[in-house]
Amino acid sequence: MPAISEKTAILFTGATGYIGGSVLQKILQHPEANTFEITALVRDAGKAQILETKFGVKAVVGSMEELDKLTELAEKAHIVVQVANADDDSMMIALLAGLRKRHEKTGDVPILIHTSGVGSWADGAGGEYASERVVSDLDTSTFDALPVTAAHRSVDILACKADSEGYVRTYLVLPSAVVGYGEGPLYEAGISKRPSVLVPLLAEIAAKRGRPGVMGSGKNIWAIIHVEDNADLTYRLFSAALTDASKLAHGREGYYLTENGEVTLYELCKAIGTALVAEGVATGAEPTVLTPEERVKYFGAEVYASMFFSNVRCRADRGRRDLGWTPKHPKEEIWKEVADVVKELANKLKGSV
Ligand SMILES: NC(=O)c1ccc[n+]([C@@H]2O[C@H](COP(=O)([O-])OP(=O)(O)OC[C@H]3O[C@@H](n4cnc5c(N)ncnc54)[C@H](OP(=O)(O)O)[C@@H]3O)[C@@H](O)[C@H]2O)c1
Repeated sequence: MPAISEKTAILFTGATGYIGGSVLQKILQHPEANTFEITALVRDAGKAQILETKFGVKAVVGSMEELDKLTELAEKAHIVVQVANADDDSMMIALLAGLRKRHEKTGDVPILIHTSGVGSWADGAGGEYASERVVSDLDTSTFDALPVTAAHRSVDILACKADSEGYVRTYLVLPSAVVGYGEGPLYEAGISKRPSVLVPLLAEIAAKRGRPGVMGSGKNIWAIIHVEDNADLTYRLFSAALTDASKLAHGREGYYLTENGEVTLYELCKAIGTALVAEGVATGAEPTVLTPEERVKYFGAEVYASMFFSNVRCRADRGRRDLGWTPKHPKEEIWKEVADVVKELANKLKGSV
């Protein structure tokens, strides 16, 4: 029998990450936070210590590959908030095994809020065109029709299936491309990563090439969401699941997208190029076409480059309708992140000359 504290036991993964930091700091500000016992699984012992001493979060040092540990931690949790990995079947199986054990031993129906992503309907446009297809999270048949081989899909399916078996309630948060600098106590304490994944990667590639690079003509469109707005939706889901879950869609109905605006990759790369030229660390602002060799070199594999230069458009209708979620950060804030990231990169590059 797991030790069940009187407090609400929460397992949090990904606290040191870009998205996870913003979510955890909101949960720490919940009006009932003093009734929570939050355990964070982190890899860095130094950060674990700061989480414990400064934030009152119990930190277990370990990795998502330690499957027995994951199962053991999940068994102790009424709520698991998973923000570390959207693509690891073994991780999901281990978490669900723990939640199933908890249910079988205690009768509790625990909650899993899993951060997935919208890349599962990336269309492989190769930057050649802007697509008309816009996916709404109210249209669950869209998700049912996605192949298991699509990005994030096998993990999402495991979660939905577990929900249908009744031992856990699962909710899937599908952020679009998350942008904006992370702000707040966990970032200031050096626990969580500030910049997005998207902007620094494209900026570093542009700096190395001397100008930005795109596939095709970068006409593809990505939906974007500010990191704080994404955290707000996850937080609202967390709060509602805790107090009034009966009204919330879950399992194969429980997809919660986040988006508030769109960019073309051309537009983003051009802005990065312009900022790099202004800083004197690139010679051209106009994007040029990436060769196949460059795509592998800079993105790690063709499949990742293809993801960036796909169309991924969506509407986050469910959160707006059911959670009262209203994203506050306009698309324009991405240009502020571009300026900050490029400035930081330029300082680093100039310092290393
Ligand atoms: N960023 C986006 O635009 C975006 C959009 C949609 C979905 N997502 C998904 O959201 C999730 C979080 O993304 P992110 O942008 O916040 O990434 P991130 O900044 O790289 O954060 C990942 C977090 O997971 C932790 N982590 C990764 N592998 C781990 C392992 N093996 N063991 C223990 N901890 C591990 C990291 O710990 P360390 O600090 O030790 O590395 C970090 O806390 C990912 O699954 C990503 O695919 C991201």
